[in-house]
Amino acid sequence: MSKKDSKDSNNSKGRKKVTTLTFRQKKEKGEIITMLTAYDYPTALAVDEAGIDAILVGDSLGMVVLGYENTLPVTMQDMLHHCRAVSRGAKYALLIGDMPFMSFQVSVEQAVGNAGRFLQEAGMDAVKLEGGRERAGAARAIVETGIPVMGHLGLTPQSVNQLGGFRSQGRSALAAKRLLEDALILEEAGVFSIVLEAVPVRIAEMISQRLQVPTIGIGAGIGCDGQVLVTHDLVGQFDRFTPKFVKQYANIHAEMLAAFTTFKDEVEKKKFPGDEHSYHMKDEQWLVLLGELGESESA
Ligand code: KIV
Repeated sequence: MSKKDSKDSNNSKGRKKVTTLTFRQKKEKGEIITMLTAYDYPTALAVDEAGIDAILVGDSLGMVVLGYENTLPVTMQDMLHHCRAVSRGAKYALLIGDMPFMSFQVSVEQAVGNAGRFLQEAGMDAVKLEGGRERAGAARAIVETGIPVMGHLGLTPQSVNQLGGFRSQGRSALAAKRLLEDALILEEAGVFSIVLEAVPVRIAEMISQRLQVPTIGIGAGIGCDGQVLVTHDLVGQFDRFTPKFVKQYANIHAEMLAAFTTFKDEVEKKKFPGDEHSYHMKDEQWLVLLGELGESESA
């Protein structure tokens, strides 16, 4: 099977590129939207081939790939580098680049400029930014430039220091009302979708019902219009901690550990590489070489 055939196989057959319009149509038809994160080419290939609607190159990159404590150190350079790799691997999914901390907060001009780089330099179709009413101006300006924006409310990891840790949001009546207002403000600013992270099920459901644009939940229950998970959590590749809302569908960390341990053992015992993993030279050429060197077979 050629590389191209493999990219076009299984769930990719007959698929059309997912757009922001597809998002809206899916909500109207009551069809659930699926989204996963990816930060590299092979993961993007697999996520795309599985038929997932959207790939988020999340700034969770900072924690699950780069090993930072939180997402704050992630830069535009980091994001663009990983977005490029993902865009080379995905053909059908809507590609969303996550705007990192300090890339959209300083000024609206800076926000528009940086959003543009995701599309112009890194093959993304849209951007995501965290925050509610305080970011509506930036979101509106980016949308007016022709760049689709996804909002992100609830637990917004870039505000981890303000929130007092990675904790669920919108649990009091007042906080929930503010969350709903923020969602409506972002919708009015023109976002095509909103991620709701770590908010109570009934609040996420209420927001989803009151918005025209689809909500994508992560730790927000079944009432959202779609679901997203961080892929490293889903496949068990991030061992440091697992949030309550994650379902682990595989244990890649354990698989990797077993493979690396077996490799070490086989190399140390000279069981690897075997004959089948080695290249060979014809006897005739071997004898010519020995002749050239003035050596004999027994030497
Ligand atoms: O960075 C990220 O992966 C995200 C998701 C958790 C939605 O923002």
